[in-house]
Amino acid sequence: MKMNGLFAVKPISDYHEEAASKNLVRALGIPALIAFGIGGIIGTGIFVLTGLAAAQHAGPAIVISFVIAGVGCMFAGLCYSEFATMVPVAGSAYAYSYATLGEFIAWFVGWNLVLEYMMACSTVAVGWSRYFVKLLDYWHVDFIPSWLASAPLEASDVGYQVHATGAWLNLPAVGILAAATWLCYRGIEESTFVNTIIVAIKVAIVVAVIAFGAFYVDPHHWTPFIPKNTGHFGQFGWSGVIQAAGIIFFAYIGFDGVSTVAQESKDPSRGMPIGILGSLGICTILYILMSGVMTGMVPYPLLNDAAPVAVAIESHRQLSWLTVWVIFGALLGLTSVIITMIIPQARIWLTMSHDGLLPKFFGAIHPKYRTPHISTLITGFLASLFAGFLPIDILGELVSIGTLIAFIVVCAGVLVLRYTRPDLPRPFKVPAVWFNAPMGVIFCAGMALFLPAATWVRLAVWSAIGIALYFAYGYKHSRLRQKNGAA
Ligand code: ALA
Repeated sequence: MKMNGLFAVKPISDYHEEAASKNLVRALGIPALIAFGIGGIIGTGIFVLTGLAAAQHAGPAIVISFVIAGVGCMFAGLCYSEFATMVPVAGSAYAYSYATLGEFIAWFVGWNLVLEYMMACSTVAVGWSRYFVKLLDYWHVDFIPSWLASAPLEASDVGYQVHATGAWLNLPAVGILAAATWLCYRGIEESTFVNTIIVAIKVAIVVAVIAFGAFYVDPHHWTPFIPKNTGHFGQFGWSGVIQAAGIIFFAYIGFDGVSTVAQESKDPSRGMPIGILGSLGICTILYILMSGVMTGMVPYPLLNDAAPVAVAIESHRQLSWLTVWVIFGALLGLTSVIITMIIPQARIWLTMSHDGLLPKFFGAIHPKYRTPHISTLITGFLASLFAGFLPIDILGELVSIGTLIAFIVVCAGVLVLRYTRPDLPRPFKVPAVWFNAPMGVIFCAGMALFLPAATWVRLAVWSAIGIALYFAYGYKHSRLRQKNGAA
C-alpha cells in the first residue's frame, strides 16, 4: 500500500467554504453558547468524582487539584478559541488537526473524540440512572426492579476482567439517552433552549449549596490541608493532589463542545471565545468554591461516596431540606451533559463524513429539522448500548484520556499554524502563544500521564481498532486524497 497523502493537510479555504454552507441553522447567540458550555461541564465530575478524589487522593487540597486542572483547561480553552474563530466548522479538534497536522492525525483525533463525547454520554447516563434511583428511594417509590437498573457486566477491581452483576439492563440510562437523542434530533434551537433552562436551575442549586453550606464550614476540617502521603504514590501528599487533578479533569470536560456548534453560532468570532472561556471561567470558580465548602463541612474521609454533595449536606440537620434539591440538581446537571455531548459527537461525524473519512449517511442533514439526524441517532444508539450493557467504570477514564489527547493536539496545532500560516486572519489570538500553547501541552500531558496504566493499554487497543478502520475505509474514500490524486 502506498502511504502517499497520509499527512495531507486540508486547506483552510475549504473549511471556510463549508462554514458558509447553509445546511445547519445559525441560531445560537452568546447566552446560549455559554449555557451550552456550562451544560456540558457541570455534571458527574462535581456531583460524584469530587468526593472520591478528596477522600482517596487529595483531602481538602482537592481545591488545589481543581485549580491545577482548571489552569490546564484554560490554556486549552484559549487555543480552542483561536481555532474556533479561525476555522468555525463543526468538526472541532478533528478539523483543526486536519488543517494543521494532516489526515492521519486528524483521523486519530476524531476517533479519540468518540471516546470523549460518545463514551461520556454513556458514563454520564449511568450516573444519571443512579441519581434517578436515589430520587425514587427518597420519595419511597419503587417501581424499577434492581435487575433493570444496572448493567449486566461490571469491571472487576483487579486487572482487566469483567464479571456479571445479575442485572439485565440499565433501563433508566437507556431511557434518558433515548429522550436526549430525540431532543437533539428535533433541532438545535429546541435542544439548546431546554439546555439553557436546565443550566439556569443547576447553577442555582450549585450556588445554593455553596451559599448555605458556607455557614456550616468548620475550618478545622481543612487541617492538614494537604494530608501526609501514606507512602503510596498518589495517596495524599503532592502526588495525591496531582493524581486527583487527573481524576477531576473529567469535571471540566465539555467547554470544548462549544467549538462544535461554531457553524450554528450567530457570530462565531465573538461567540466562540466568550462561550468557551466564559463557561470555563464560571465553572472553575464554582468548582473551587464548592470543593472548598464540601471539605469544610465534613471531615474529608466521609466524602468517599458516590453522592458526596448529598453526604456533606445531610451531615447538617438544618440543611436537610437541600438534599432533594441536590439530587434534583444532579439529575438535571447530568441530563444537560448528555444533551451537550450528543450534539458535538453528531457534528464531528458529520464533518468526517463530508471529508470522506466516514460513509455518506453520517453526513445527512434532516430536511426539516436541519440537524445531522442520522449521526445523532447512531450516537444515541451506541451510547445506549455501552450504558445499558457494558462495564462503565473503565470508560470514565477513557473519556478523560481521549479528551486530553485532543487538547494536546489542539494546543500544538495552534503553534504549528502560527508558524506555517501566519497570514491567516485570526479574530481571536491566544495571548503570549509561545508560552500558553506549550503550557497547555505540558499540563494536559501531565494529567494524562497520571491516569492509570490500564487506561493507556485500553487507549492503545482503541487506537489500533481506529487505525484499522481508517485503512479499511477512510484512506480509500478521503476526498482530499482523491482531490490530490493520491488515492
Ligand atoms: N464535565 C462533565 C461531567 O462532569 C463531563 O459530567
